[in-house]
Amino acid sequence: MNTTTRADAQTGAQADRFKATFGAAPHGVWAAPGRVNLIGEHTDYNEGFVLPFAIDKRARTAVRLRSDSTIRLLSTFGDQGLAEADAAALTPGPVKGWVKYPLGVVWALQQHGVEVPGFDLLLDSDVPLGAGLSSSHAIECAVITALNELTGAGLSVEEMVRLTQHAENAFVGAPTGIMDQSASLRGARGHAVFLDCRDQAVELVPFEAQEAGLVLLVIDTKVSHSHADGGYASRRASCELGAQVLGVKALRDVAVADLDEASGLLDELTFRRVRHIVTENDRVRQAVDTLRAQGPAHIGSLLDASHASMRDDFEISCPELDLAVDTARAHGAIGARMTGGGFGGSAIALTPVAQEQQVRDAVVHAFAEAGLTRPDIFTVTPAAGAERIS
Ligand code: GLA
Repeated sequence: MNTTTRADAQTGAQADRFKATFGAAPHGVWAAPGRVNLIGEHTDYNEGFVLPFAIDKRARTAVRLRSDSTIRLLSTFGDQGLAEADAAALTPGPVKGWVKYPLGVVWALQQHGVEVPGFDLLLDSDVPLGAGLSSSHAIECAVITALNELTGAGLSVEEMVRLTQHAENAFVGAPTGIMDQSASLRGARGHAVFLDCRDQAVELVPFEAQEAGLVLLVIDTKVSHSHADGGYASRRASCELGAQVLGVKALRDVAVADLDEASGLLDELTFRRVRHIVTENDRVRQAVDTLRAQGPAHIGSLLDASHASMRDDFEISCPELDLAVDTARAHGAIGARMTGGGFGGSAIALTPVAQEQQVRDAVVHAFAEAGLTRPDIFTVTPAAGAERIS
C-alpha cells in the first residue's frame, strides 16, 4: 500500500470507529504532526531562534460537535477508555492522561473568549508517545485546528500557537515555549521551519536530506521524560536569572561577543546556561545560512556542537542520549544531537544512506552491550503541518 492509500484507509477506519462509538458520523477529521528539532534547543522561551520540522507521523482527531456541553473523548491507544467532561466546567489541575491535551485546548479557547460547545472526539496517533517528538502538541494542534474551523473562531496561526502554549503552561502544567506547536501548525513538506520566537516570523528552509544522499535517523532511547518535571523549569529559571542580571529583556538579546563580559557578571552555573542559549541561537542562524548555501550535508558540525553544548553547558542530556549520539557519529553519521527538551526522549543522526544500516546496527548493539532497553530507530522527513484530511 502506498502512503496515501494507507492514510485514506486509516481515516476511513477512524470514521467507522467514530460512528460505531458515538452513533453518528464525525463532522470531519483533522491531522497534526509531531516534530523533530534540527537545531535550536531551549532557545524558544528565550525569544530566540529554532529550526524544527513537522514529521511524517501525526495525530488525527475525528470530531462531531454536540448541542449540549458534554465532551466525550476516546483514543485508539492506551487503556483510558471513554472519558467525559463538561465544557462548561473545565479547570486546570485535576485532569490526568492524554485527555488533558484536548481539554486544555478547550479551556484556553474559552479563556480567549471562544464559545466551545460539547463534542465527541476520537483520537488516533502514530507519533510515538514520550519519545520527545511532541506527541502532546500533535494532539493539541489537531484539536485546535478542528475547533477553530467548527466553531468559526477565525483564529490566526499565531493565535493558535499562543493558545496551545497557554493550554500547556496553565492547564497541563508544563512551562514550555512555542517551538513544537509552531512546527506542527506551520510545517511544510520538504522544509524546516525557521522561527523567530520573539515575533513568530517564519521562513521555510528547504531540507531535502534524501536529495543529498542522506537520511535523518531518529533514535528513540525509550528513556521517558516529562516537561512538567523539575529539570525543564529549572533551566528556564536559570535563563530568566541570567537575562535579569545582564539587564536584557531575554537572552536573545545577548550576542556571542558579549559572553566574555557576561562571565564576570554571572555565577559559574548561570553563565554556562547562558552560554548554551547564546551560542545555540548563533548555531541556528549558521545552520539556516549553511542549508541555503550548501545543503544538509554541511550542517553536521553544527549538530555536534549543539549536542556538546547541551551535554556540558545546559546539562540536559543523559547517558542514553550521549551513547546514541556518540555511537552514531563513530559509525558514519555526519552529525548527531539530542532533540527536544532533553532528560530522555530521542536523538537525531544525519547519516549518509550508505551508512544507515551500519549506524542502526551499531546503536542497537551499543545499547544491548550497556544493558539498556532496545532503542527504536526510524527515519523522518519534513511533512505538511496541521490540516483537515476528511
Ligand atoms: C520542549 C518544549 C519546547 C522547547 C523544547 C526545547 O519540546 O515543548 O517549547 O523548549 O523542549 O528546545
